[in-house]
Amino acid sequence: MSKELILKKERIEVRSRVAQTYSSSIATDVYRGLTASQKYIPSKYFYDDRGSRLFDEICYLPEYYPTRTEMSILDSVASEIMAPFGEGDIVELGSGANRKIRVLLDAVGPERISSFRYVPVDVSEAALIASSKELLELYPDLEVLGIIADFTVHLKDLPSDRPRMIIFLGSTIGNFHERERKKFLSLVAETMTPDDRFLIGFDMIKQKKTLEAAYNDSQGLTSAFNKNVLHVLNRELKADFNPTEFKHVAFFNEEMERVEMHLQAKEDMEIRVKDLDLTIELEKDETIHTEICAKFSREGIKRMAADLGLEIRRWFFDEKAWFSLAELVLKD
Ligand code: AVJ
Repeated sequence: MSKELILKKERIEVRSRVAQTYSSSIATDVYRGLTASQKYIPSKYFYDDRGSRLFDEICYLPEYYPTRTEMSILDSVASEIMAPFGEGDIVELGSGANRKIRVLLDAVGPERISSFRYVPVDVSEAALIASSKELLELYPDLEVLGIIADFTVHLKDLPSDRPRMIIFLGSTIGNFHERERKKFLSLVAETMTPDDRFLIGFDMIKQKKTLEAAYNDSQGLTSAFNKNVLHVLNRELKADFNPTEFKHVAFFNEEMERVEMHLQAKEDMEIRVKDLDLTIELEKDETIHTEICAKFSREGIKRMAADLGLEIRRWFFDEKAWFSLAELVLKD
């Protein structure tokens, strides 16, 4: 596939592989989701510019513990994580804001930083360029190769000529359904060489009330974030959703070990999605399932790694064990 060059300057290059795929995949995905018996919209469509901004704000909410907890782990173990990694590419899947990568780069220190290249992979061009530019200023010896892509689709095209630390933080892995999660992780495992390591963040199972508060904040930001996906569909597919006619619903499904977010219709309604030539009906109280946020146990993570032919070389937790960072490598 050809790579569209977006930007090239002294220490930065940005390439895009997303333009061709996005418009066809949102149409296919949404058609499939809205015609299923339990209607759903894939959560990756939350993240347009407004959605990304709302998520950033969620990260600072008092109830939303995952970001803060993962940051506290990173703060305390960043030098330990980076010490055995002498040189190569730091490939970040779903890069977003710079808070986390900066902790790792600061741990490398200015003398060693020119031995690394930072390779953020993200669908949002605006966010990727803005955060890359900030890093270039903060780290005058750092090189950046930005890739605008859906990392679930373009994993095989990422650079692999140098040792890599692939990082996948924020428990984003929790947004995948089990089958996609296995498929995605085995793709990552297949592309790994013995010199690569994979650092992945997992939100752990904990008390129901703590989990549910994190997704039902008192300021209503999570509700706005959830409903934003309807604005995305209105814009991208000329749909006519009225977001105020939906209620934000989020709960911990204990049996499935996941938080689920839904949008629940307040009344019977009919929705027209012009670009899909589709009309759907929703009954009062019917829901559109918009996100799963799987929560993990130690046993589950161990099993997952073993199934992938990977081993957990190091595993870091906060003191309450609310969150964990696992470093996975190929099993020898
Ligand atoms: C970005 C996937 C980590 O699942 O907790 C936040 C997204 N959804 N509030 C999560 C999210 C609702 C978040 N992740």
